[in-house]
Amino acid sequence: MTDSPPDPLPPDEQALRAKRMRAYTELGLGLALRPRLAPTGASPGAESPDVIAAPVPEPVTRSVPEPVTRPVTMLAAPRPSRPADALADLEQLAAEVADCQGCGLCTTRRQTVFAAGNPLAELAIVGEAPGAEEDRSGQAFVGNAGKLLDSMLASLGLNRQEHAYICNVIKCRPPDNRDPAPEEVASCEPFLQRQLGLVRPRVILVLGRHAAQALLRTESSIASLRGRIHAYEVEGRQVPVVVTYHPAYLLRNLGDKAKAWADLCLLESERQRIGSER
Ligand code: URA
Repeated sequence: MTDSPPDPLPPDEQALRAKRMRAYTELGLGLALRPRLAPTGASPGAESPDVIAAPVPEPVTRSVPEPVTRPVTMLAAPRPSRPADALADLEQLAAEVADCQGCGLCTTRRQTVFAAGNPLAELAIVGEAPGAEEDRSGQAFVGNAGKLLDSMLASLGLNRQEHAYICNVIKCRPPDNRDPAPEEVASCEPFLQRQLGLVRPRVILVLGRHAAQALLRTESSIASLRGRIHAYEVEGRQVPVVVTYHPAYLLRNLGDKAKAWADLCLLESERQRIGSER
């Protein structure tokens, strides 16, 4: 007697797998570092064995993700409940930001860029500052860096519409995409604090050195900030923070994509840990 072939996957699952495969390829992940594909929402690593028959364009030369160190003081806080009118308050805050003249960037911006994604998401992603495309569209992370960010999310089976709230440390584009000045960061900081206080994420992913230094109030290098869990206080609670490279940096430094993948694995394990403590 011969075994009957396994049932084909439902079309939704096939589409999702194809999307994740593209994301892994875009992230430059060889077979050795790809998680096995599992249904939506499953963590990388916890996946089924029937995988990745497709050839991979790049050679498998990456090292495995780095071990994670966690300060013993890190608390796993349950998600604080949001104020009932958090969404209306976020709109009100966005309107305040749109009128802001707190620093010189108000004279060069086309418009402020408040956020993108889902304000009800448990994951908040914080970048540095809007670029040219964001300044034009008013949405965070819509340029090439945003496309790579979407691929990074897709590699975890996530998407911005449902699973992430995306914002920046500063809400106006610095001219010529220069680094934000300390006084610009300082002027915008209360907005970010209020924004995250309304969204009340359970975990935060910070993109790039400038955002990490501003959020964590440190001058440490990104190399020293990666690979461990930090904390950011939101409404009196310590929210775990993972630091990774900015997608714009990754677009210029392809060799560091494997490190970014290690960071995403750390983020995912933190999401799983928190999820299991709910
Ligand atoms: N880079 C950022 O840090 N934020 C954006 O919104 C776009 C590019």
